[in-house]
Formats: sequence, C-alpha cells, structure tokens
Amino acid sequence: MMDPASSHTTREPEVERYYRFHAPLYDATRWSFLFGRSGLLDMIPDLPSQPQILEIGCGTGTNMERLEFHFPDARITGLDLSPEMLRKAGERLNHSTQIELKLGRYQGDSFDYNSFDLILLSYSLTMFGPHTDPIFNHLLEDLKPNGYIAVVDFNTSPFAWFRRWMEYNHVNFSGHLLPLLKKYFHPADITVKKAYWGLWTYFQFIGKP
Ligand SMILES: C[S@@+](CC[C@H](N)C(=O)[O-])C[C@H]1O[C@@H](n2cnc3c(N)ncnc32)[C@H](O)[C@@H]1O
Repeated sequence: MMDPASSHTTREPEVERYYRFHAPLYDATRWSFLFGRSGLLDMIPDLPSQPQILEIGCGTGTNMERLEFHFPDARITGLDLSPEMLRKAGERLNHSTQIELKLGRYQGDSFDYNSFDLILLSYSLTMFGPHTDPIFNHLLEDLKPNGYIAVVDFNTSPFAWFRRWMEYNHVNFSGHLLPLLKKYFHPADITVKKAYWGLWTYFQFIGKP
C-alpha cells in the first residue's frame, strides 16, 4: 500500500475553502453544467444483492439519492472533504437508513481492502489535481475484484480561456483522465459528449479492475 502522505494533493485546502462558499448555491446552479450524472447511473450493470457502494466526493448527495432508488438493498457510503457539502447531503438524506456519510479526503487507508462492488466518482476526479496516479492504485485496492468503477467528469475544451477559467475553479481540464482510466481499468462502457455545442466535452466511463 502507498504511503498515505504521498497521496495528498496541494489542492485539498483550496477545494475545502472553495466549497465553504459554494455549498449553499451548489444544487441551484450545478444542474446547468454537471451533465451526464443520472445517465451514468443508468449505464451501471447489475450488481450483486446488498451491494456495497462508495461515492468519493459525494458533495450534497444528489447521486446518493439516485443510487438509493436504483439499488434499494445497497449500503452506500459517501465520502467528502468539505464539511459544508456533507452537511447539505446530511439534510437531504436524513431519512435514509442505507447511507453513511464520512468526512475526509480520499486516500489509501480510507477503507478496508476489497470493500466495494461499485465506486462512483462524479465530477470529483478533475478536482484531485494533475497527479492522480496514486488515486487509481487506491481505487483498485478498495474495489472488489468483480466490482465496477463509474466515472462522469469534464474531459477537455478546445478553448484555452475556458480551461484557464475552470482551473481557477480548481478543475483540471487537460483531458488526462480517460487515458488513465483506460490504463488502470478494463472499460465496459465509454461515452464522450459535447456540452454547449462543443464549449467543452465530458465523459462517462464504466470499468472493471
Ligand atoms: C463538483 S463536486 C461533485 C459533487 C457530487 N459528486 C456531484 O456529482 O454533484 C466535487 C466534490 O468532490 C469533493 N472532493 C474534491 N477532492 C476530494 C478529495 N480528495 N477527497 C474527498 N472529496 C473530494 C469536493 O469537496 C466536492 O464536494
């Protein structure tokens, strides 16, 4: 296992600060540009009964609410480093007996080895910074051998000004993620789509270890 200290990215304090201010506006604004989230859940293959599911960077809990509907017998864990985002998720999901929320950054010792049938990353990987290789090793350790990883995220943009603007908002827009996902996982399903007539592209990826 990697030294957990080596998987720190320099972005985490900035991301935490960013969401201190954005959490109250998050649900009212993000529907207009975080595309493909509900479609990704439709692409997930059947899981074993009582699956263990993890969402890394679960934010305000939009996906977990949908996961609960898709997999009514699942145990779902949501991890996020932002207390404000997690507080919103807690308000949204306080009815649920299936869902557990954990505060913290994702790292090598966050969970036991081979714990999950499904790990979901929805618009969180692009916030992990450019050096994501250690994260992929942790994902492989945390997934069961027959588990699935499901990712939806920004891909890239042909416009330098837009990439710079997203970087300013802590989003790495360099198109680095799909090649890395294909390197670490066997793809089961991949789509790449345009947003706003090609201002940027985003991708959906389902893979297995
Ligand atoms: C754009 S939001 C996405 C939230 C949710 N997944 C969604 O689709 O609406 C990114 C989330 O990832 C969290 N995040 C970023 N880096 C993280 C890390 N290293 N560990 C845990 N959470 C992280 C942020 O705090 C934020 O809540």
